[in-house]
Amino acid sequence: MDKTKDVLRLIEVAFPLQQASLASVHEKNVRHGHISTLHIWPARRPLAACRAALLATLLPDPGDPEKRQALLDEIGGKVVAKEVKTTDEDGTVISEEKETLAGGVLAWGQENDPSMDSFRTRVRELYGDHAPKVLDPFAGGGAIPLEAMRLGCDVTAADLNPVAWFILKCTLDYPQQFAGKKWPLPDFVKDWPDFIEDYLAGKIKKRKGNKKHHFSQPSQPLLSPSAPLHIAEEAPASVFLHDADLAWHVRAWGCWVLERAKADLAARYPVINGEPTVAYLWARTARDKAEPFGCHRRYSMNPSCFFSGPSESCRL
Ligand SMILES: C[S@@+](CC[C@H](N)C(=O)[O-])C[C@H]1O[C@@H](n2cnc3c(N)ncnc32)[C@H](O)[C@@H]1O
Repeated sequence: MDKTKDVLRLIEVAFPLQQASLASVHEKNVRHGHISTLHIWPARRPLAACRAALLATLLPDPGDPEKRQALLDEIGGKVVAKEVKTTDEDGTVISEEKETLAGGVLAWGQENDPSMDSFRTRVRELYGDHAPKVLDPFAGGGAIPLEAMRLGCDVTAADLNPVAWFILKCTLDYPQQFAGKKWPLPDFVKDWPDFIEDYLAGKIKKRKGNKKHHFSQPSQPLLSPSAPLHIAEEAPASVFLHDADLAWHVRAWGCWVLERAKADLAARYPVINGEPTVAYLWARTARDKAEPFGCHRRYSMNPSCFFSGPSESCRL
């Protein structure tokens, strides 16, 4: 039986606002493993804020101040002061007291905390041993549906924009479909020694001196160098390439697309006097109707004529 009908939800009475804010600010600095690194999408909501809002919406208000505070603490944890030391440019160590969270399930890294299991069980029980349905019709980068899935909900996510739709597929759908599955890598990776070396080592090696070249630089190395693949001489590469998981396939096909994009775009980014063209700036222009002799010139409507600092080079 659904025990949530006609009862006040926690969010209607209280919300762990300070905790959700602290966890959200911290999350902005996370670079590894966060869905925001998959693809840029505007107005992404922090996962911590979504998790807090979902829990406070799915769970009923306990109706008693003490129990309510206990539930808020269970979700958000306690705000505690922590001494943080930083060193400034002169080498002086600065000690500051910063607010941080102790406990709760909102801080980055807590998503796999055992208390999340307890919340999942509680949510399911509350909804008559069924996963409650959550619909996000404007899902964008997928923060709300991802957190709803984490809480065991039956989720539907939609977005009008095809880029957002694809980000949603890659965030919510494909990882579930392909998790734990392995299948052979495409044959073309056999021509990429660095790729094979990383694949066999099971991790991406940081190659010193392999600085990122701009793709129009003549020295830009291709992913398919003509150098022979040493490993193939000892054993057929196919022996090693049969059980690659989704991450390796994404890496292989990502490199494949990158190589072709580089080839297609290189002509549009020529190297001039040894300097690569790095970007195009688009500016709205207006035609000067008062120009004599019918020669209506176009002028940039950019508020500034300066596109870079004096030390940087910039061509118009
Ligand atoms: C503020 S963003 C959502 C951000 C999302 N909550 C997140 O955390 O990434 C709003 C989204 O609504 C989508 N949108 C706008 N109008 C829409 C419509 N009529 N139908 C479906 N989606 C729409 C936009 O494409 C955009 O991705």
